[in-house]
Amino acid sequence: MNNNLVVYYEERANEYDKIYEKPERQSDLLALTEILQRTFTDKDVTELACGTGFWTQVIAKVAKSVNASDINEAVVDIAKDKEYEKNNVTFEVADMFNYSLAPADSLFSGFIWSHIKKQELDKFIDIIHSFVKPGGMVVFIDNNFVEGSNRPVVKVDEYGNTYQDRILENGSKYSIIKNFPTDQLFFKLLKEKGERIKFVSLKYYWVVCYQRK
Ligand SMILES: C[S@@+](CC[C@H](N)C(=O)[O-])C[C@H]1O[C@@H](n2cnc3c(N)ncnc32)[C@H](O)[C@@H]1O
Repeated sequence: MNNNLVVYYEERANEYDKIYEKPERQSDLLALTEILQRTFTDKDVTELACGTGFWTQVIAKVAKSVNASDINEAVVDIAKDKEYEKNNVTFEVADMFNYSLAPADSLFSGFIWSHIKKQELDKFIDIIHSFVKPGGMVVFIDNNFVEGSNRPVVKVDEYGNTYQDRILENGSKYSIIKNFPTDQLFFKLLKEKGERIKFVSLKYYWVVCYQRK
């Protein structure tokens, strides 16, 4: 069983967008779209871990500009092939943990939070904040755990990180960290680092929006 997150997403690139076709999730996806478009209208947005560009397309419809990056070239290539009517998107292949970029007005990252070890979240937030100007808006979205819709949690480690077994269409198997945070965790972690913290929990997804201090 492979536990390399980056390799997993590289190998999953061509099947990734199927996750956005699940019928039961469509109304939540629409609600997320409305929140993101309301938040990012006319903003310059840095998007980290953009994957195949599903949310890049949503944000680019209303933003002034989007600078989207991901560590995997395979997903960035798929994202680049999508249509961006306003021609306002630039892409880079970059590891967010080893990336230097001028701080932007606002930052978005979808479905990466759940893959960060709990014991590294504090450091992760500091790294994320290095990409945003003080007062800039930060938005994360990710999954709630819904029995029957998410793969089951099969392992919990000593820090309380939870893991799922994932099998790709070619049969390769991965053990992937997937955490499901509570709103209290955000308020605790962001107490000194964020302002106007808003946490919205839908059925399948959560969204946290705040201003970086
Ligand atoms: C769950 S996918 C989310 C993709 C996209 N944000 C979305 O919501 O559809 C996680 C993404 O994180 C990327 N990733 C993992 N580690 C990364 C890193 N260190 N720097 C940048 N991207 C990373 C993976 O390549 C993958 O595309």
